[in-house]
Amino acid sequence: MIAAFPETTPLIIAVDGPAASGKGTIAKALAAHYALAYLDTGKLYRAAGLAVRLAGGDPADAEAAAAAAAHFDEALLAVPDLMSSANSEAASIVSAHPGVRAALLARQRAFAAQPGGAVLDGRDIGTVIAPHAPAKLFITASPEIRAARRHRELAASGDARDLAAVLADINARDARDRGRSAAPLRQAADAALLDTSDLAIGPAVQQAIALVEQALGRDRQQQG
Ligand code: DC
Repeated sequence: MIAAFPETTPLIIAVDGPAASGKGTIAKALAAHYALAYLDTGKLYRAAGLAVRLAGGDPADAEAAAAAAAHFDEALLAVPDLMSSANSEAASIVSAHPGVRAALLARQRAFAAQPGGAVLDGRDIGTVIAPHAPAKLFITASPEIRAARRHRELAASGDARDLAAVLADINARDARDRGRSAAPLRQAADAALLDTSDLAIGPAVQQAIALVEQALGRDRQQQG
């Protein structure tokens, strides 16, 4: 008899967590390890925020933001300003509008459901986009460590900001992403927690793979 999993069920790995927690690096490494497609869903919200800014609009304007999310130019996904600190704030603001989230939902669900399986990272993958994903991780780290990482990334891309300002941005973004009523950032009840505060990239990825294997083992047992 042919086993129902994993041969016939696409593997979906949901990776959520706050800014600069290491979730993107870990999600990409998991996609490479399991040969799955990868989507950084934060880029979709960043593109919507950038589209509003380029049009001279206000990210707090729910209608303008929802229209931008429904029709943004795909070329925006490759613009360097997409990842800037100014655009991080715009992305966080537009992402709180329910109309923006609704406009981006189908695209993310379709990506998750592709036959070859997928890894998605974001804030609501395990709770809203793919609540039935067999493997879910919630990646975190202290705000100070995340600010130091983000500060290094920004400096490397020529965006020189002082560390205190980056920490203030991270705290403001966390509060907005956790406090909004539409799909707030939170750990799904069945997600495994991975705190990367004291971990280098290599060990963090190894632990993430071990947690995914545990989750898949549990899932196989439940199916069998
Ligand atoms: O992952 P990131 O830092 O690039 O995301 C930018 C913003 O987009 C983040 O502050 C909140 C929002 N976001 C979201 O609300 N839901 C997601 N699935 C991904 C990102």
